Amino acid sequence: MSDPLFMEDNLDRSPRVLAPGAVWIPDWLTLAQQSWIVARFHEWRDGPVPIRSAKVRGHEMSVQTVCLGWHWRPYAYSRDAVDVNGNRVLDFPDWMVRLGRRALVRATGDPAAGDDYTPDTALVNFYDADARMGMHQDKDERSLAPVVSLSIGDTCTFRFGNTRTRNKPYQDIALQSGDLFVFGGESRLSYHGVTRMHPATAPKDCGLQHGRINITMRVTGLTD
Ligand code: SIN
Ligand code: MN
Repeated sequence: MSDPLFMEDNLDRSPRVLAPGAVWIPDWLTLAQQSWIVARFHEWRDGPVPIRSAKVRGHEMSVQTVCLGWHWRPYAYSRDAVDVNGNRVLDFPDWMVRLGRRALVRATGDPAAGDDYTPDTALVNFYDADARMGMHQDKDERSLAPVVSLSIGDTCTFRFGNTRTRNKPYQDIALQSGDLFVFGGESRLSYHGVTRMHPATAPKDCGLQHGRINITMRVTGLTD
């Protein structure tokens, strides 16, 4: 491949701390876990709130999103999908809380790191070959608890930047199917985005033939 991301140092798939609180754990999910989650995605995307491209300042995002626990729209959370069909989103699944806790334990090496972590929303994004996401901060939450990100399907170029500006310095990494990325602590409000997809790179048995699913679990800090 000619993409610089796939050359030399960037082929190193060892766990990596990109910045304090920002940890990349390649190949964290097994293929069986990935395909099980993809089957859940196929249930979530049909409703009660169907997957949709959110509109940002009148423009549809290229990414499609379905939410669990709390519904996200630019730039707010609500229980009901007021910008889609008014239905209440699905509950946040218990298994995903457990997975999020295990992700923090793995990312920090601290067996207690997940004890106080109870994510209550997940943004489940689907990227087709042309989708991307501009540099942004995850700052619609009232809590600064870590964000846990899981990727399944095609590889993407993920850009992880700094907390001050959406421009350099940033690091580009290839997030592949099964990868875990956590950003919390000093990196919780770092700018990040997806600059491009790499079609036809999904492993055969991950459950997704085309495109990429990314799940970000977060703590909203909201109450009903
Ligand atoms: C996001 O920033 O919400 C998604 C990031 C990703 O797709 O890896
Ligand atoms: Mn984000």
